[in-house]
Amino acid sequence: MENKKKFYLTTPLYYVNDEPHVGHAYTNIASDTLARYRHLLGDDVFFLTGTDEHGQKIERVAQKNNETPQELADRLVKVFKNLWQELNISNDDFIRTTETRHTKTVKAIFEKIFAKGDIYKGFYEGWYCTPCETFWTETQLINNRCPDCNRDVERLQEQSYFFKMSKYAEPLLKYIDENPYFIEPVSRRTEVINFVQGGLKDLSISRTSFKWGIQVPNDSEHVIYVWFDALLNYISASGYLEDPEKFASTWPCDVHIIGKDILKFHAVIWPCILLAADIPLPKKVFAHGWWTVEGKKMSKSIGNVVKPFEMVKKYGTDAFRYFLLREVTFGLDGDFSETALIQRFNSDLANDLGNLLHRTLNMVEKYCEGIVPINYAINENIDKELIEKATSLAANIPEYIAHLSFSELLVKIWEIINKANKYIEMTAPYSLAKKPECRERLFTIMYNLLETLRILSVLIYPFMPDTAMKMRQQLGIDKMFSEANIKEISTWGLMSSGSRINKLGPLFPRIEIEKKV
Ligand code: MSP
Repeated sequence: MENKKKFYLTTPLYYVNDEPHVGHAYTNIASDTLARYRHLLGDDVFFLTGTDEHGQKIERVAQKNNETPQELADRLVKVFKNLWQELNISNDDFIRTTETRHTKTVKAIFEKIFAKGDIYKGFYEGWYCTPCETFWTETQLINNRCPDCNRDVERLQEQSYFFKMSKYAEPLLKYIDENPYFIEPVSRRTEVINFVQGGLKDLSISRTSFKWGIQVPNDSEHVIYVWFDALLNYISASGYLEDPEKFASTWPCDVHIIGKDILKFHAVIWPCILLAADIPLPKKVFAHGWWTVEGKKMSKSIGNVVKPFEMVKKYGTDAFRYFLLREVTFGLDGDFSETALIQRFNSDLANDLGNLLHRTLNMVEKYCEGIVPINYAINENIDKELIEKATSLAANIPEYIAHLSFSELLVKIWEIINKANKYIEMTAPYSLAKKPECRERLFTIMYNLLETLRILSVLIYPFMPDTAMKMRQQLGIDKMFSEANIKEISTWGLMSSGSRINKLGPLFPRIEIEKKV
């Protein structure tokens, strides 16, 4: 039987030089949401994250801490893994670049490209930014500093192996041209095209002035450049070297989700390495924007680093997940503030969503004895509009998801929530409840509300998995999401009359803001 191609998505591998912050959490939350939507759409998903553990930056931080780089990595990898658990990240694999499956792959690819004649030995003279692990030429520097992070750079003069990247500019441009959605958003695509059209230089891919890295095959003086090493994780985790069947079912990768600062590595260097190694290119690289904090760049020296563990403790995993994906269009920069988070918590989550569930369940308890009523389907225009609104979004989901338009999709979901809240005002079930002759109409309305909430639970699930589960539990739906699929959203009438609801406390108890006196 032919193996079905999986939907393969990746996050960057995080450096283990420090604890994770909101930027790292952001990429993994977005990736997790995508993974869960792909599940709903019926895909078999392979979702990879991990840690980038080699290189001079890690070696230096370890030295400063009086530990070995491996000890540093082992310590921090636990923190990353804990965070992914706290944030409900459903990754299928976690790769560390110090694992044998990876180091072997890196050596094999180095040898393959070397044998082909696309790696040669030379001498590197130029600049290097260790925090970014990036080589720079004199003319690229801005005021003698790293053009990306504005930190000090170091002069390097050392023997180095070079990768003939210059040779691949044309094939890369051709691939970008033939695949309009290879690089998204479109502004990033233009950026890459302009960069590659300026020509590509050969890339230094080994270092001799420190030791913490994968050795160049047959040359123990050199360690492989950390980016050449790290990018290859995407194939080492998908079985390139040791599991051809797995590789055939995962590669080419469907999407690498990254931040805009590492676009060139993913959309230029990585495809060139793959072209040289005769491996197909990934289908998409999506670069998201950066978070500032209350208008300022996030930095340790300013002391404004947003710590995801603290956010989860204060506001809960789902509110944090929701805020990050709702607040800005995925692909653009955003500004993080707790005030904005609290506002969204109180208005979107407590007021709109939480109240809709709570009010509906209260009424079902009061007017229907806590039982999902018979659907008499006495539907007037107002009901038909609600049904249409709730069921029609399903058809557009593949398009939103294909382009990672998370906030736009949330806006659409909230239109359903708002419509349902208005529906309660307009149909006024509390008045109908006083008139026995309106019982069938009342039951129809209650059924329509429960049914809308059931659909909402599926739509919301990839963004806020716990909340969605709680909604279903309260609605008395046994079927959880392993079995749910997108059809559940376009089909009306799946709530079974006669089953019991299970009202619990509010989903999002309002956060009282301390008033400044
Ligand atoms: N190790 C490399 C990636 C190698 S992938 C083969 C790396 N690691 S990192 O830990 O420095 O950064 C990982 C991700 O965090 C990047 O995608 C980066 O864009 C993201 N962010 C770091 N700071 C950020 C913000 N302030 N806002 C949003 N994302 C940010 O780069």
